[in-house]
Amino acid sequence: MAIINNIPARDSRILSVGAHRPARVVPNSELIDRIDSSDEWIRQRTGIETRHWAGPEETVVDMAVAASKIAIKRAGLVPQDIDTVIFATITYPYQTPSASTEVAARLEIKNAAAFDIGAACAGFSYSVGLASDMVRSGSATNVLVIGGEKISDFLDLDDRGTSFIFGDGAGAVVVGPSDHVAIGPTVMGSDVQNREAIAMLPSWIDFKPGVNSAETMWPVLHQEGQKVFRWAVYEIAKVGKEIIAKSGLTPMDIDAFIPHQANERIIESLTKSMELPDSVIVARDIRTTGNTSAASIPLAMDALLAEHPELHGKNALLIGFGAGLVYAGQVVELPPVPKN
Ligand code: UT7
Repeated sequence: MAIINNIPARDSRILSVGAHRPARVVPNSELIDRIDSSDEWIRQRTGIETRHWAGPEETVVDMAVAASKIAIKRAGLVPQDIDTVIFATITYPYQTPSASTEVAARLEIKNAAAFDIGAACAGFSYSVGLASDMVRSGSATNVLVIGGEKISDFLDLDDRGTSFIFGDGAGAVVVGPSDHVAIGPTVMGSDVQNREAIAMLPSWIDFKPGVNSAETMWPVLHQEGQKVFRWAVYEIAKVGKEIIAKSGLTPMDIDAFIPHQANERIIESLTKSMELPDSVIVARDIRTTGNTSAASIPLAMDALLAEHPELHGKNALLIGFGAGLVYAGQVVELPPVPKN
């Protein structure tokens, strides 16, 4: 049997977080006429008051680069210190080359491993899990993990089930070495029976020249809202309990809860079902950011730390869930006070 030496004995942690929200704030009032809705209905059923949408001149990579620069600086690093770039996104409009390579090129990060993760709203937690394992095993030292989306490009503004839910933005963290365990085991999984419940359709594979045009084939996001809502409330609460148990913790050890920002009623329900104590500070970034899929957890983390600086270095439960249906989560120690 081969004996492999030079395996670094080290743990991993989130060194920093950075965020970028596009400038334009879109209130509910701008969307309601086309879907026969009201500001009150949207606030009551989802918690969303406003969201940010990028203009035509701002791409998902522009947002990712902006968030990454902040995260790298706050970690006390320079782009050349990054050896792996992982980009979780479902709205980068090219199949290949990947969004992560575009970020690496723009930041002049040379020779880094670079790949994208397609796990929708769970993509960030999948990526943090991978990054942590790469650092612990010695495959990487400083991993830039990005969750970024420009979902406004893939919305049907006449769809009553989606148009008002989604927002644009990007969040990034740097995962690097630690002298203690600061990222717990990642629980990841799927419920592929419900694979069709959220989907970007039609698919380009259905394109038939002369039958449909590029315009009619442009994909938009669809979801069976009620089905996903029920799944999230029942199944994700169990996942949350499993994450806490696998970390050797109890709900009393959790200081902050930063779930995927899909619907404020889902967030409330999960908080209750997991029996998180009242002392836990719960991220409700959805109110002003909407659902930004893979970007929602790092954006919410950044906002929570700005509002509650006392949470730096404290335990947070992260859980992402979405199209697939897939989920992933872990307990992390929130990044320390930024170095820069
Ligand atoms: O990020 C990926 C994960 N995604 C999610 O977790 C999404 C989970 N689902 C949801 O957040 C919710 O299902 C929605 C916000 C999408 C919809 O809320 P809901 O409470 O499930 O609404 P519903 O479809 O059960 O409809 C309830 C009522 C219906 O009226 P009646 O039949 O009770 O009179 C609908 O016609 O609300 C009506 N309705 C609306 N009214 C105003 C449905 N959509 C709208 C709307 N505006 N946009």
